[in-house]
Amino acid sequence: MGKKLKETIVFQINSKIPQLTKIRKAASVIKQGGVVAFPTETVYGLGADGLNAKACARIFLVKKRPANVPLILHVDGKEHLFDLTDKVPRETEELIDKFWPGPLTLVLHKSRIIPQIVTGGLNTVAVRMPDNLIALNLIKYAQTPIAAPSANLFGGHSPTCAQHVIDDLDGSVDIIIDGGKTNLGMESTVLDLTVKPFKILRPGGVLERDLKKILGKIKIADSTKKNKYRTNMSFSPSAKIIVVEKTKGQINKMQKLVLKLIKSEKKIGVIVTEENKNEFNNCLVKVMGPEKDLKTCALNLFSTLRSFDKEKIDIVIAQGIKRKDIGLVIMNRLQKVTNKNIK
Ligand code: TXA
Ligand code: MG
Repeated sequence: MGKKLKETIVFQINSKIPQLTKIRKAASVIKQGGVVAFPTETVYGLGADGLNAKACARIFLVKKRPANVPLILHVDGKEHLFDLTDKVPRETEELIDKFWPGPLTLVLHKSRIIPQIVTGGLNTVAVRMPDNLIALNLIKYAQTPIAAPSANLFGGHSPTCAQHVIDDLDGSVDIIIDGGKTNLGMESTVLDLTVKPFKILRPGGVLERDLKKILGKIKIADSTKKNKYRTNMSFSPSAKIIVVEKTKGQINKMQKLVLKLIKSEKKIGVIVTEENKNEFNNCLVKVMGPEKDLKTCALNLFSTLRSFDKEKIDIVIAQGIKRKDIGLVIMNRLQKVTNKNIK
């Protein structure tokens, strides 16, 4: 945490029956160019008026994010997509009917009203409608699309509860809305509709197999390669992370690695599925969830990785998951923070 620059107000709001007076207050702060962290169904967002370049500049400053990583605009109704974009392909309507509100971000050609800073200089814009009543009402009362990246410091893990946001941003934002834990724990799927075939730039809450049912053929960006959209930028959180891929003898490989690394007097942690929690007795063991319930594993991943940082663990050995459906999303997020993959 940096030096405390200002008093951050924390609002507790029930995301099922949100107290509208508090949301109106937060919305007026957004309207005046302020920055408000708020929950969505995926992760917490760091929001500002998406049509106000100066307000958006504060997001980059607060998050310490490079200016060339574009922001997502959040809307409170499907129809707003059309004000913000141009040359919308015909499949778009079916996609938003099926998946909005929800964790699907669409990349389209941008309309003229969007400030350059939002899109990091690109001529396309990312838009989504979040499935969370606090987020939706905040956008409604602010009467503007809300630009919001995940509400973490650049390079860290996305926040899945208000405490994570407080840990990273207390003293540098105006308001943090505490609406409890997010439902999914993983960010939205980013789908580029400006290329043919359409391309998943970042796998997330809406799965490839469900998109295929509507779109037929789609491409998926290689998560090991960098791209101009910066969707695959690698991060470097405090603990070094080594992923041991799901292959035969995986647990045995992890055990051997722990033994080897312990000798270097580093503090070692492992993150495993429920089934393997008793396989390690010489290091800190954390469980992401049962292997059969990857939804839970995804929900817990970021908060578990954060807790290793809090406990000053030097090296985390992560149990890799099969790259399929939610497993693909989990592995994509691990790929971004890993220093080494072991097959
Ligand atoms: O679930 C989410 O998407 C969360 C919540 C808060 O909505 N937001 C989020 O934002 O994860 P952020 O900024 O952490 O990640 C947005 C991703 C980045 O990888 C960025 O490169 C990509 O979306 N993106 C944004 N605009 C884009 C564009 N015009 N073209 C391609 N990629 C874009
Ligand atoms: Mg992020």
